[in-house]
Amino acid sequence: MTEAIRDDPALVRSTRRWQQAGIWLMLVLVLSFPLYKLTESSRRANATALQQQAQIATGTQLWALNCAECHGKMGQGISAPALNSQQFLTSVTDAQMTNIIRGGIPGTAMPAWLADYGGPLTDQEIAALVTYIRSWEPTAPSRPDWRTPSGG
Ligand code: HEC
Repeated sequence: MTEAIRDDPALVRSTRRWQQAGIWLMLVLVLSFPLYKLTESSRRANATALQQQAQIATGTQLWALNCAECHGKMGQGISAPALNSQQFLTSVTDAQMTNIIRGGIPGTAMPAWLADYGGPLTDQEIAALVTYIRSWEPTAPSRPDWRTPSGG
């Protein structure tokens, strides 16, 4: 019986064709997976970059409206510390910055900004501000005097 199948040339050819088709299909699947992963991760990186740009745009506006009068238009510091400073930005985490902005610094001119603490801002707006302030880091100047920008 098996002899008969093996000896039937038409059947042998057909079997071989199916095997080849199977190998091609498998190759296509195996190769398409890393390609998919590649485009998927670049798509995700794009989405993250877009979201970050939107946050920086929002943060820029919020900074000008709420923070610039004390901390300076470019974060250079006036009556309040210079946040656009290597020394400040490398010493603080985003979480620490978020907490300071949310609750302010009691006993100083730095008010609380989160609505829960009587401020005018939401958590999303504060996150946008933190992203904006963080975006200064690559070009932030060295400011050893960042805490007392006006020499006071
Ligand atoms: C009325 C003035 C004033 C305004 C407006 C203000 N700040 Fe401040 N801020 C201060 C002062 C003063 C300090 C320093 C307090 C101290 O003596 O530690 C400070 C400190 C900070 C610090 C901590 C710096 C450190 O010493 O580690 C951060 C972060 C900060 N402010 C962010 C903001 C942001 C963001 C805004 C706008 C939403 C803002 N501030 C608006 C006065 C102000």
